[in-house]
Amino acid sequence: MRGLAGKVAIVTAASSGIGKGIAKVLASEGCVVHISSRDEVKLRKSAEEIMKETGKEVHLSPCDLTKPSDVRKMLSEVKSKSGSVDFLVINFGDPKVAPFMDITEEDWDSAINMFLKSTVIMTRSILPEMAKKGEGRFVFITSLTTKQVLENFAISASLRAAVVSLSKVLSIEYAQKGITFNSISQGYIQTPRLENIAKRNAEKMNISVEQAYDAIRQGIPAKRFGKPEEIGYLVSFLCSSDSAYINGTNIQIDGGLVKFPF
Ligand SMILES: NC(=O)c1ccc[n+]([C@@H]2O[C@H](COP(=O)([O-])OP(=O)(O)OC[C@H]3O[C@@H](n4cnc5c(N)ncnc54)[C@H](OP(=O)(O)O)[C@@H]3O)[C@@H](O)[C@H]2O)c1
Repeated sequence: MRGLAGKVAIVTAASSGIGKGIAKVLASEGCVVHISSRDEVKLRKSAEEIMKETGKEVHLSPCDLTKPSDVRKMLSEVKSKSGSVDFLVINFGDPKVAPFMDITEEDWDSAINMFLKSTVIMTRSILPEMAKKGEGRFVFITSLTTKQVLENFAISASLRAAVVSLSKVLSIEYAQKGITFNSISQGYIQTPRLENIAKRNAEKMNISVEQAYDAIRQGIPAKRFGKPEEIGYLVSFLCSSDSAYINGTNIQIDGGLVKFPF
């Protein structure tokens, strides 16, 4: 992909699953990748796996996205190691999934910090330098819940929609500065999180984990789950110079799951 080699990228929530898949693809395209998440041990393992597979050095900075002070510390670590940032790929942790009245005010505060405040802090920190350089890419990783809400997903649906809308506003404000803002709404991707969901469903429905996987798979026109790297390929395209005219979009990548045509 053109325009990726040597560029500095941050990928958050990247010690496993989708974030790790994105980091791996960006590293294999020659980016200098910084990954972050809460658990330093998992993060180091993820960096080692990516380095082994791609032969590229990957930097790590532990950061809990629910804690603004962690987010600021991570940003200053990245800047002191690599200078300015070219691509900011914001992936998030898993929000609480529960009936509305079982979600406490503390749950909302923590989720607002993770989805909205961390996005605002990171974007505000990185935008001025990008605007000076006249280039940069933001990619926000959201969920199919921005397209099709689900019962018990009040946090995911509402706060990810806020991130998509913020991305749209920023895409207009910075369109003439060579900076693009896009978001991705992924469907079911084979990750440790999906494995947990299948295990939980299996227990609830008294069926095997494979049967629980199958029940989800049957609802997907492609009849398979996505791979984390497939999100990475889309992110690398959105970060490349080939995608300079794609701005302010929200792209579904879900094997045809969401049926709404627009
Ligand atoms: N997989 C799917 O089918 C699917 C579909 C739609 C949306 N999503 C969403 O996509 C995102 C990634 O999911 P995934 O499937 O890749 O899950 P995953 O494999 O469980 O990975 C989640 C990642 O988030 C990190 N994380 C969790 N809480 C964090 C926090 N507070 N601050 C920083 N990092 C945090 C975890 O690392 P640490 O434990 O080290 O912090 C881990 O690296 C989630 O928001 C998920 O809800 C997933």
